[in-house]
Amino acid sequence: MAFIIAVAQQKGGAGKSTLAANLAVALLAGGKRVALLDTDPQQSLARWHALRPATAAELVFESSSGWRLTGAIDRLRKSMDYIVLDTPPHADTDSRIAIRASDLVLIPLQPSLPDLWASEATVKLAEDEKREHRLVLNRLPASGRLRDVVMEELARRKAPLLKQSLGNRSAFAAAFALGLGVTESAPRSAAADEVRALASSLIKPKGQ
Ligand SMILES: Nc1ncnc2c1ncn2[C@@H]1O[C@H](COP(=O)(O)OP(=O)(O)OP(=O)(O)O)[C@@H](O)[C@H]1O
Ligand SMILES: [Mg+2]
Repeated sequence: MAFIIAVAQQKGGAGKSTLAANLAVALLAGGKRVALLDTDPQQSLARWHALRPATAAELVFESSSGWRLTGAIDRLRKSMDYIVLDTPPHADTDSRIAIRASDLVLIPLQPSLPDLWASEATVKLAEDEKREHRLVLNRLPASGRLRDVVMEELARRKAPLLKQSLGNRSAFAAAFALGLGVTESAPRSAAADEVRALASSLIKPKGQ
């Protein structure tokens, strides 16, 4: 049975599609079967997938939203090891369906207080649906005042923060433009190290 990961955050541009695509590609390692489902009408990942070279590792891809999403998940659940769901930038029905269907919700946020506030709606959705959820810091600088302020606020709230974050790295946009993940286009880059570490911290529990 697939382990289902929803990537959700109502704030636009937080890095949902970047995280979903790179995570899905990294999870392919070791011959795992991975499906990536784009539930966002913006179709960023459908366009990314259309650029994917025929020689790249096989990633099952579908665009699906609303009631069709539940059907697509039911169809793929038995044959996949992982299903990664990208969601639109709002906390409405489609995000709720994706969150409800998931085993784990990843909530990317950039290190700023408005991003942190925006993540509250998605955290609440995940809590309402009783789903495991983790905040993932994206475009995190290695040091600086902003980083400190956001880290302090997250600690004060006892926010469920994933240890592994992603830095602000041009490799992400470069890989995206080729229909690839950073672990494929720049496997020795710092970005690839971060994505691999993130993926292995999510390896699904035994028996799933
Ligand atoms: N870690 C990163 N380092 C550098 N650039 C990044 C990083 N993550 C995302 N970006 C860039 O930020 C922009 C927004 O990213 P992305 O499309 O993944 O966000 P999103 O949350 O899916 O947006 P939307 O809400 O519109 O769906 C893109 O140009 C992407 O290349
Ligand atoms: Mg997106």
